[in-house]
Amino acid sequence: MTTKPRSAEKLAIEGGTPARQRPDPPMYPGGMLIGAEEEEAVLEVLRSKRLFRYYGPVEGPSKAEDLERAFADHMGARYAVAVTSGTAALICGLQGIGVGPGDEVIVPAYTWIASPLAVAAVGAVPVLAEVDETLTLDPSDAEAKITPFTKAIMPVHMRGLPARMDAIVELARRRDLLVIEDTAQADGASFGSRRLGSIGDVGCFSLQFNKIITCGEGGILITNDEEIWKRGMMHADVAAGSRHNIPREEILGGVNYRISELQAAVALVQLGRLDDLLTRMRERKRMLKAGTEAVARRKGILIQPINDEAGDASVAFIFFVDSPAVATRVAEALRAENIGAGVMYDPGRMDYHVYQHWVPVMAQRAWTPRGGPWRWARRDIEYSPDMCPRTLDLLGRAVHLDVNPLLSNQDVEEPIEGINRVLEALT
Ligand SMILES: Cc1ncc(COP(=O)(O)O)c(C=O)c1O
Repeated sequence: MTTKPRSAEKLAIEGGTPARQRPDPPMYPGGMLIGAEEEEAVLEVLRSKRLFRYYGPVEGPSKAEDLERAFADHMGARYAVAVTSGTAALICGLQGIGVGPGDEVIVPAYTWIASPLAVAAVGAVPVLAEVDETLTLDPSDAEAKITPFTKAIMPVHMRGLPARMDAIVELARRRDLLVIEDTAQADGASFGSRRLGSIGDVGCFSLQFNKIITCGEGGILITNDEEIWKRGMMHADVAAGSRHNIPREEILGGVNYRISELQAAVALVQLGRLDDLLTRMRERKRMLKAGTEAVARRKGILIQPINDEAGDASVAFIFFVDSPAVATRVAEALRAENIGAGVMYDPGRMDYHVYQHWVPVMAQRAWTPRGGPWRWARRDIEYSPDMCPRTLDLLGRAVHLDVNPLLSNQDVEEPIEGINRVLEALT
C-alpha cells in the first residue's frame, strides 16, 4: 500500500487537517524565558533599595554599569551606554557622532519608524534608500543618495539579518561619512565574524519586549571610540559632565535617558541567555530552509538571501513569491495550517516598518511650525509614496514566518510539511 505524501494532502484553508497541531508559542525569544534568575536579580536590587545607578543606601556595584561592561565585552566593543530605549540609544548614538541640524543621514526605506525619527529628533533629516533582497540597506542605492550634506549612513539589521557591512563601511570611509548601526533587531548577530553594532562607528540596540533579549523597555549603545562614548553618555545623563571628570571645555548638555537599576538587572540576566537563544533559532531556521528549499527552487521562489549566513540571528524565515496577491493567499493558507505567517507590506494597513506609512516623516511634520529638521535642511527634501519602488515590490511579495527558539524538532517538521503543501498548491 502506498501512502500519499502529506504534502499532497488537502490544504487546511480548503477544509483539510492543519499540518501543525498547535499554534506556535508567542514570539518573545528572551521574554518567554524570564524566570527565577530575572526574579532574583530584581529582588536583589529591590532589597538593597539601591535603585539608582550612582548611589543608594548601600555602596555597591551598579547593575547599569555591570550591564554596560558585560554588553560591550559580549559584542566586542570598548564602551557602552545603557539607556531607556532603542530610540534613545539611536538619539545618543547620533549625538555621539555629531549629527545635527543641516545634516542628512541615509536610512533604509524598510525599518521601524524609530530609525528615521531618531534622525529627526537630533535636528537632521533622514534620506531614504532602497533595501535589496536581504531586506537591509542596498549599498549602491545608499551611495546614489549621498549629497554634500550627508553626514552618516544608518544600516539597519532588520529581522536579525546583517546588512552588507563591508560595502557600507568601505563606502563611508571613501566618502568621509560615519556609520551608525541600528542593531535593535539583531542582538548578537554578526557580519564577517564581528558582532553587529561593533563594526560601524556606533551601534544601537533595543531591549524592548519584542526584541531577542529584553528588559521590557531599554536600550544600549556601543562604540570603540572614546569621544563618541563620552558624547553619547553626556546626552544620556544630564549630570555626566560633573560625574565623569570631563574637562570643562568639553562638557555638553544632555537629557536623561538613564536606564534604571531594575531594568539593567533583568537585561544582565538576559544577556547570559543570548547565545543559547541564537543557537536554537539558527538550528530551527537551518532545518526550515533545508526542508523547504527543494520545493521553493522548483517553484521559482526566492528564499531570502543572507549577507553572512553564519551571522544571521535567525529570528525569521522569509521567502518571496510572484506577487502580493499570491503572498497574501500563501500567508492565509499557512495560518490555516497553524503556521504563524504574514505578509510584510499591505498598502492599506498602517505599518510603521514601511516608509510609505511613516506619516510624520513623509509629511515633514515638526513639533511647531517655527522650525524643525526639514526647515533646517540645506536643500529641499522630497518624499513621495513611490520613491523606493524596489523596497515596496520586495516587501509586497514577501512571506514572513517567525523562527521561534521554543520550537521542538516536531514543531519544525510540521511547518516544513505545511509550507511545502501550501507552496505546491498555491504558487
Ligand atoms: C529597527 C528598530 N530600530 C529602533 C527600534 C526602537 O527601539 P525601542 O522601541 O526600544 O525604542 C526598534 C524597535 O522598536 C526597531 O525594531
